[in-house]
Amino acid sequence: MKALILSLALIAPAAAMANQELAQKKNCMACHAIDKKLVGPSYKDVSAKYAKDKDAAKKLADKIVKGGSGVWGPVPMPANTQVTPAEAQTLAKWVLTVK
Ligand code: HEC
Repeated sequence: MKALILSLALIAPAAAMANQELAQKKNCMACHAIDKKLVGPSYKDVSAKYAKDKDAAKKLADKIVKGGSGVWGPVPMPANTQVTPAEAQTLAKWVLTVK
């Protein structure tokens, strides 16, 4: 029992790390940080903004692939063409868990 709890406690942070690694690999962290605004909004702010939006993951995944502007200010996010739709889903879901 103890071992089960221990391994569950180890798995969760590992998954969060893997997603952040993906964001780093895809260059997202050049413009975004977890808890401060860079070129784009912090992921903390994004997840707070969409906390009550059930469709957020889908919307954000779409925006990650195609880019867009006007939600956070005048600076646009360019299309992230190196990101597949599946990766964008993973990244969007991860961003929404950031606190
Ligand atoms: C060149 C800089 C740049 C890069 C690279 C970039 N972003 Fe952004 N991102 C922005 C800016 C600027 C905004 C704000 C756009 C707006 O106001 O609508 C933004 C907005 C967002 C949002 C919020 C969208 C919304 O409509 O609220 C998410 C989620 C996001 N980015 C995720 C990512 C992910 C994941 C990646 C990597 C695949 C990435 N970004 C790469 C600059 C960037």
